[in-house]
Amino acid sequence: MIFPASVSRQCDDLAQLLGTACLPYLRSPDAPSHEFSVQSTFEAAWQSDAKFVLEAMNAAEKSKREAMVEASGNRSVFAIPLTFAENTKSEQWFAIGRTNESPTDSGKKLIHIAFEAIRRQYQIDVQERVILNAESEMERSFSERIWLRQLNAQRAIRKKTVGQQSRQSIESLRTLIDAEAIAIYLYSDSDVEDHGLESMISGKQFWTLEDVRILIQRIQKPRCGESEVLNQMEQQLHNGIIHSCVVVPIGEAEPIGYVLAINRRKQARSGASKCDLGFVLADAELLHEVAGYIAADGYSNASLLESERLVLGTLRAMSNAIEARDPYTHGHSERVGSVAYQIALRLNLSEVMCQEIYLAGVLHDIGKIGIPDHVLLKPGKLEQEEFDIIRKHPEIGHRILEELGKLKFALPGVLYHHERVDGTGYPHNLVGDEIPLMARILAVSDAYDAMTSSRVYRSAMGQQRALEILRSGIRTQWDAEVVTACLEYFSDLSLELEEPGYESRRPKSTDWRQVSQALRVLQL
Ligand SMILES: [Fe+2]
Repeated sequence: MIFPASVSRQCDDLAQLLGTACLPYLRSPDAPSHEFSVQSTFEAAWQSDAKFVLEAMNAAEKSKREAMVEASGNRSVFAIPLTFAENTKSEQWFAIGRTNESPTDSGKKLIHIAFEAIRRQYQIDVQERVILNAESEMERSFSERIWLRQLNAQRAIRKKTVGQQSRQSIESLRTLIDAEAIAIYLYSDSDVEDHGLESMISGKQFWTLEDVRILIQRIQKPRCGESEVLNQMEQQLHNGIIHSCVVVPIGEAEPIGYVLAINRRKQARSGASKCDLGFVLADAELLHEVAGYIAADGYSNASLLESERLVLGTLRAMSNAIEARDPYTHGHSERVGSVAYQIALRLNLSEVMCQEIYLAGVLHDIGKIGIPDHVLLKPGKLEQEEFDIIRKHPEIGHRILEELGKLKFALPGVLYHHERVDGTGYPHNLVGDEIPLMARILAVSDAYDAMTSSRVYRSAMGQQRALEILRSGIRTQWDAEVVTACLEYFSDLSLELEEPGYESRRPKSTDWRQVSQALRVLQL
């Protein structure tokens, strides 16, 4: 027979106090009061004392304190209650012992002192347990509040992807609720991928997503908005047995997946086996928080992706409209954007500003859509009035982009990329720093790409020559710092200068993946 740890400990304490063996005896609430069956801890010799044990136990049970009776041969048998539950139907444990002398006043007094000591220890234990539980509840509710605050803080950092946020959330949640694993399991279909979500598991050393998939197939799944706390289960999987779990659906009407906590890890206290300690409703509530955040992030991510597709589609349509008309400009806008991005990096601008400058480069000549073919595609020298028409493209581009609210950040670059620092540029003859930095950068990268590209009326200039022209135009045409950053970029690149065929190796069309990346960084 296995004794609760507390019963064994009490018997040991009594034995030390009384100097005689004290054996644990469990009297079931339904056992008749005339019965004493010798249990495994008792020697067969106790059978002869059965009626004295019974008498002592009945007296102890009735008085709810210790009892000592005289046994045959000038001996005594005593029974000391070890459990003190209010509920009389609960199991009653006794410590049974005997001495080799008849009951005396001092003997009885000693037994009584031992009983009081045990009873007081029991009361202290109960109070300690109450304090421990209260402390553990407070600690937990404090940790929960910190965890929820961290979860919110992570969501506030907009650059983090949904996946990164979820991974951090479930790792910290696993520690908080002492689970072997926390899993986000999503049904794999295109809808889920559109939401930018992915299945993941924290606590990989214990379980895999394949285990989770099998578990989900086997258990009864709760509906959206509900949760299932399953304790004392026995699910044999590849990596072991799952004895407890919490399952919470993700989604609003139909679940797109589940958040699960697997196997509570908390160390068992005083005699309770590991399986006795399962998850509680508070754990399910925390998992609900995660499921809610995942669903909300998924939906907002889906609408972000949708909006990104719209912006990208608009950009492609506009860019194609220009490049389809003039094959010699293929890839020009994107190359202007790429070089401008590298210059912006070297001017220590933020990643967001660098990406804005890149996209402004892609868009800088968008106003050429409004220039008639006979002017835009004229191979020879332009007449003054044709120049005047061409010079309208920054303002036309500005008017087009003004209508597209999301791309407004590119307006300064589009409108002023033909201004010169000496004030002789167009359309507004701005001077020096009056020209927005974005436009000063685009002016340099635009000029560089124009010089190193072939046109129908002239062939491409070598890179070295183009860089010399940029250097010589400092403080008249271009900003000194911007030109320096541009020279630095090409020096970093260590491209084969003046190499024949350089022109043919340059990208001939827009790199739409890079445009997508920029849109994502800018959350467009
Ligand atoms: Fe232009």
